Amino acid sequence: MKIALLGYGKMGKEIEKTALERDHQITLVIDAFNLQDFTSENLRKAEVAIDFSTPGSAFENILRCFDAGIPVVCGTTGWLDKFTEVKERCEQQDQTFFYASNFSLGANILFALNKYLARMMGSVTGYEVGSQEIHHIHKLDAPSGTAISLANDVISAVDRKNKWELNQASDDSVVPIQAVRQDEVPGTHIITWDSAVDQIKISHEAKSRKGLALGAVLAAEYIRDKKGVFTMGDMIRL
Ligand SMILES: NC(=O)c1ccc[n+]([C@@H]2O[C@H](COP(=O)([O-])OP(=O)(O)OC[C@H]3O[C@@H](n4cnc5c(N)ncnc54)[C@H](O)[C@@H]3O)[C@@H](O)[C@H]2O)c1
Repeated sequence: MKIALLGYGKMGKEIEKTALERDHQITLVIDAFNLQDFTSENLRKAEVAIDFSTPGSAFENILRCFDAGIPVVCGTTGWLDKFTEVKERCEQQDQTFFYASNFSLGANILFALNKYLARMMGSVTGYEVGSQEIHHIHKLDAPSGTAISLANDVISAVDRKNKWELNQASDDSVVPIQAVRQDEVPGTHIITWDSAVDQIKISHEAKSRKGLALGAVLAAEYIRDKKGVFTMGDMIRL
């Protein structure tokens, strides 16, 4: 498969390695240094684009792929205020879009466990929920997209919770997300349910970016001949 990489930073480079190992070709690499090459003509030499760029550029990059008629996998976080617009544009233009806040299989298993646990805890009193995400010091957005997804899943399952807040909870209706930036940590997410007598804790710790890159390449393979909006739940049925 011919792949265009939009964003050639830490993830873009890891995805390139994984794609080549799986016998795909990289036909275009776009980064801040060569934006002049980001044309529809160049994009159309690929069968699918994978965007791991920046919170400020992903939205525009996705729309450019739609305009060029190229399916796009996006892992960039920090732009989701525009997600509904992207979804609508994808449907109106009969295009293909795959988004995941976390492409690793293990983190998606954590999402499933978190939903299950939150449903249980919704009917139990005496426990307070908290969450923490730990990432490398270069990460531009906080909290992480994964931490937001986890918090939103708790909010959907537990009536007494209705929003998340970064670092501190201003009242009991809040799911707090503590964001820690530390060394070169690839990504750790922890959800705790704490009571006066005990604590339940579930977590996922990425050991490297390999699992994330593999998930993104598998997503590109998955959407190649499809139309519509997809996420990890469509690709891996847990
Ligand atoms: N969904 C996931 O599983 C997952 C996993 C890891 C990282 N991420 C997210 O992916 C994004 C990239 O992560 P990273 O660690 O590779 O970051 P990075 O900073 O190493 O790389 C981002 C690259 O995008 C480039 N860029 C800037 N403007 C651009 C533009 N207009 N078009 C294309 N590229 C442009 C930058 O120059 C940089 O090289 C971040 O938002 C991060 O949070 C998501």
